[in-house]
Order: sequence, then C-alpha cells, then structure tokens
Amino acid sequence: MYKPISVSLLDLFSVYSKLMDMMTPDLQNHHTEVAYIATTLATEAGLTLAAQKQINYASLLHDIGAFTKGERLELLKFDLAQFGRHAEIAYRLLGATKGFGSMAELVRYHHIRWDEGRGREAGQAAVPLGSHIIHLADRISVLIDKSKPILFQVDEICRRVRSEQNRMFNPELVDIFFSIASKEYFWLNLVSDDRTNLFSPQQIMLEDYADIENMLDIAQMLAYGLDFRSEYTASHSIGVAAVAQKLGQLFGVTPEELILLHLAGLFHDFGKLLIPIETINKPVRLTEEEMILIKQHPYFTYTAMNNVAGLEDLKEISSFHHEKLDGTGYPFHLKAEDMSFLVQLMCVSDIFTALAEDRPYRTAMSKDQICLILQEMAAAGKINAAIVQMCIDNFNAIKTYSLCQKELARIDYERMKKLLY
Ligand SMILES: [Fe+2]
Ligand SMILES: [Fe+2]
Ligand SMILES: [Fe+2]
Repeated sequence: MYKPISVSLLDLFSVYSKLMDMMTPDLQNHHTEVAYIATTLATEAGLTLAAQKQINYASLLHDIGAFTKGERLELLKFDLAQFGRHAEIAYRLLGATKGFGSMAELVRYHHIRWDEGRGREAGQAAVPLGSHIIHLADRISVLIDKSKPILFQVDEICRRVRSEQNRMFNPELVDIFFSIASKEYFWLNLVSDDRTNLFSPQQIMLEDYADIENMLDIAQMLAYGLDFRSEYTASHSIGVAAVAQKLGQLFGVTPEELILLHLAGLFHDFGKLLIPIETINKPVRLTEEEMILIKQHPYFTYTAMNNVAGLEDLKEISSFHHEKLDGTGYPFHLKAEDMSFLVQLMCVSDIFTALAEDRPYRTAMSKDQICLILQEMAAAGKINAAIVQMCIDNFNAIKTYSLCQKELARIDYERMKKLLY
C-alpha cells in the first residue's frame, strides 16, 4: 500500500536545487547558500514571514534557467555585466506554475543592479525588493572560495560588497548585510553540512506542504527545466508520465498510485541535470565512457530524494527505472523481487517512450520495431511480460495519449525556444 504523497515545498525545491548545484563543483551548495543569505537578509529587513518564504523558495530555484555548464560557470564571475537569458527562462518556467507569479517576478530581476536607485525599475516594471535581496545574496555566494575556511574570507567579501554599495547593490540592504556579517555563526551556518540550522521553524511551517494538484504543477515545471535543455528531450518526462499513467489506468491501479506514476514520470530523469547537455545532444552514438557517465543519472535522482520525508515511494518508483528483473540493470542491480509493480511499470514506460522518440543519432522507431524490442526484452526476463503485453494490446491508445501530452509540452517548449536559441 502506498501512502499519499506529502512533502514540504522547501524539501521539494531542495531536491532540484541540490541537483543543479552538483552540476558544477564550484557552485556546490550555491542555491542553498543564496536561500540562506537572502532569507536572513529578508528577516533582518523586517519583511513578513510570507515574504521571507517567497524569497527562500525563489532563491532555491533562481538559476533553474541556466541550462549549460558554461552558463553556470559564467555566473561565478562577481561583476559580470551581462547575465544572459537564464533569469528570463526561470521567470517563464515559474510564471506558468499556478500560484508562483510573485516568485517568478523575484527571479526575473535577480540580476538587476541597483545603479543608484535606477534599479528600482526594469523597463516599465517595478523591481521587487526581494529581487535585490536575492541579487546581493547571489553575489555574496559566488565570492566564497570553497577551498578556504570561511572566516578567513569575511573581510574580503565585506570589502567587495561595500565597494558596490549603491552601484550593484541597494545601499540599505548592504547596511543590513554588514550587521549580519559581523556574527560568526551566520558564516558558519552558511557552510555547515547540517542544513537543519538554516531556516527557522516558522519558515518551514506545515502549511507549506504541497497538495497534489500543486505538486503536479510544480513537478511539471521542474521537469520542463530538465527537458527543455535539449530539443530531443523537450517532452520526454511528460511522455514517460503519460505512458505510465495510461498503463496504470489499464491495470486498474488506485488513484494514489496513478498520481505516483505521474510524478515518477516527471521526476525519473532529474539526475540527468548532471549530464552535460553536449552529451545529450551528441549527434552520433555515445562513446563507452560517455555511456558510463550517463548511466549515473538514476543514482543521482535517488540521492537527491534520499532522506526527504514524504518522497520515499516516489524515490524508488522514479529512480529504479533502468533496473531489470534479472539483475542486469543499473545502478542498483535489483532483481524482480525488489521491484514493485509500479517500478516495473515505470521501466517499461521509459523504454516505450524512448523508442518512440527521435534521438540525435536515430529517428523514432515504428510500432513493429517497438513491439519487437519490448517482446524480446520480456522473453529474456528483463522486463515484465504482462506489462509488455498490455502495451502491445493497447499500443495505439497509449501512443495517442502520450503524443497528446507531449504535444502540449512541445507547445510550451516552442514558446520558450525563442529565448533559448
Ligand atoms: Fe542567476
Ligand atoms: Fe545564482
Ligand atoms: Fe533515465
């Protein structure tokens, strides 16, 4: 029996931000650091609890629109003048999510310089104070040298921030920062592995648990953040979720299980955030070394969700999708008895979707080819034969449903594409 999903927004966003930060070792913990600095600044500035939370959540996802490693490394330059497209992409992703309009605004302007007050506006729009807070927090975070003890760096960080008072940064926020910067515990919290010190209990209150509808919306937004990095994967997660849902319906699973399948489809490849986009877009077959690296992704999906209360079932259904019944899958080499029915269903859904999609090195396969491959894998004892039979018996219905869902994602992708290329 599966429990209904219940997870706090803070935990949910942290799963994704953890993966984004693992992409580049120099940016390790960047999103958490920005969230902590920004939330502390917001608290000291006397902002309401609701505003503190908005700033916290926006900080955890603020660079969701920086798709490539190159872009992320650019963001490390303290006084870079142009920050490109990533804030606008993040704004579009978050803005399409119900209830996230103000979070989207915060992220959109997180690189607007204060510029002696001219940064109160961008074009015709007012720039929220929260954006200036995230901006300052973001720039402080990139000044930290991970190889040195943090307290040795405080003077230099303060000097750099002071030199940009009224130029890059809102002067009042700089003064607030200085009142915090003199306290060692602030810096020690910032680099501590123990994240439980970072936010006050009020900032992580129970009322911020995502309900299911909310959760599906957020999961789709996060999946877009992953899939939109490449033309070839632009609707992959949505497609896997659709196939899994359709198969789940055909097998008569419970409503809770259907939601789990939907979410797992959206989450399953989150670990691919750590795979360079160049590898995913490579027009020829991957080398053996590249294959080894890419095969790490379900492990990353697993670790990002590890120890997150409320995501235990989702973690397994999402991250076991490359396991095989005979123990030849990866990365855990599970056997049939360790793989629940939903896990087995997710494995088939992923293969089905992948075979039906174009890849940089091959075009989509035909119905006959897909059925043959699935049947051969089932006969070899690698995937569940009953699920494969269900796929074959209902091929057109599954494919049509999946194509419709993928088409909707495509439309969103095409809208975004003008910004991407
Ligand atoms: Fe940024
Ligand atoms: Fe950033
Ligand atoms: Fe995968």
